Amino acid sequence: MSFLNDLEPLKQSALADLKAASDLAALEQTKGTYLGANGKFTALMKQLGTLAKEDRPAAGKIINQTKADLENALAERRSELELKAALPKEPTDFTLPGRLRSLGKLHPLTQVSDDIVRAFRKIGFAVADGPEIEDEFHCFDALNTPADHPARDLQDTFYINMLGTSRPNSTDGTSAARSLLRTHTSSVQIRVMQKQPPPVRIISLGRVFRRDNADATHNPTFHQIEGLYVDKNVTVGDLKGTVEFVFKELMGSDVKVRFRPHYFSYTEPSFEIDFSSSLVKKMGKDWLEIAGCGMVHPQVFENVGYDPEVWSGWAFGFGIERIAMIRYGINDIRLFYENDVRFLKQF
Ligand code: DAH
Repeated sequence: MSFLNDLEPLKQSALADLKAASDLAALEQTKGTYLGANGKFTALMKQLGTLAKEDRPAAGKIINQTKADLENALAERRSELELKAALPKEPTDFTLPGRLRSLGKLHPLTQVSDDIVRAFRKIGFAVADGPEIEDEFHCFDALNTPADHPARDLQDTFYINMLGTSRPNSTDGTSAARSLLRTHTSSVQIRVMQKQPPPVRIISLGRVFRRDNADATHNPTFHQIEGLYVDKNVTVGDLKGTVEFVFKELMGSDVKVRFRPHYFSYTEPSFEIDFSSSLVKKMGKDWLEIAGCGMVHPQVFENVGYDPEVWSGWAFGFGIERIAMIRYGINDIRLFYENDVRFLKQF
């Protein structure tokens, strides 16, 4: 068992060398010196065969234990050296101030929306919500716009095949359950009136979808705000007063509004609202068309189960992008959706 006498000194020198390795490359080298194919320890192991048969199990056990010890020492030193390599070479001053992250801010459309909501809250309006994926009934039929109504062409829209709906899509004009991306927020009027008895005083803001090509003033997706007021003895005067109040809150006290006769199938009479202010003048115009509105059509009240002999009301809808463009002097609607921080930072 002579070579076993060499084992302990070899182990001690290997452990010392592994500990002394000053970096990972030196460690690999030391590993090779002892445990590599031609290493000193490997050479010793090869002598196992020269022992008498009955001595081999005991010797094998010692050798294996030694090998395990060396491998443990190797792994331990390796993780020490890896940690050392990962630490900064230069001393770190932990008292230095941190790096400032630039703070984000609200999107201009969100800012305008928040201001609109604030203005309406002042006069007692609540905010209502409705789905972006609507059905034809809420988007058109209940708003007195049946399938053969020409007004539907103006809002030619995105219909959706809903998997698993009980009524399949049909083209016969009676498909009240056909789903579509809502073309306006007016659908929320219907949803609110179906859910609660009058009086009603709500606004609703959200995304709408049209099959429009994008250009400086159009985008297939944009945002609208809808307003609905139902009570007894409501007049066009109430509508005009409300609109004037809100636009003054939003755009400054020099705002003027004017109503022009128009047509919407869910209001009678109907108007378009033009507005004028110093901001509009800056854009080189006297008046800008900004919204549609009118007195709620008796048929709409019938459709939601309100008695049109008792209740009266007004409704309006306008585009939020339009307001933001005037307010901030933005000349291309597409800028709102590009997520370019250089643009967004300005508001
Ligand atoms: N829904 C109309 C549109 O998208 C806007 C509108 C007009 C809403 C008249 C109304 C209204 O509530 O009474 O162009």
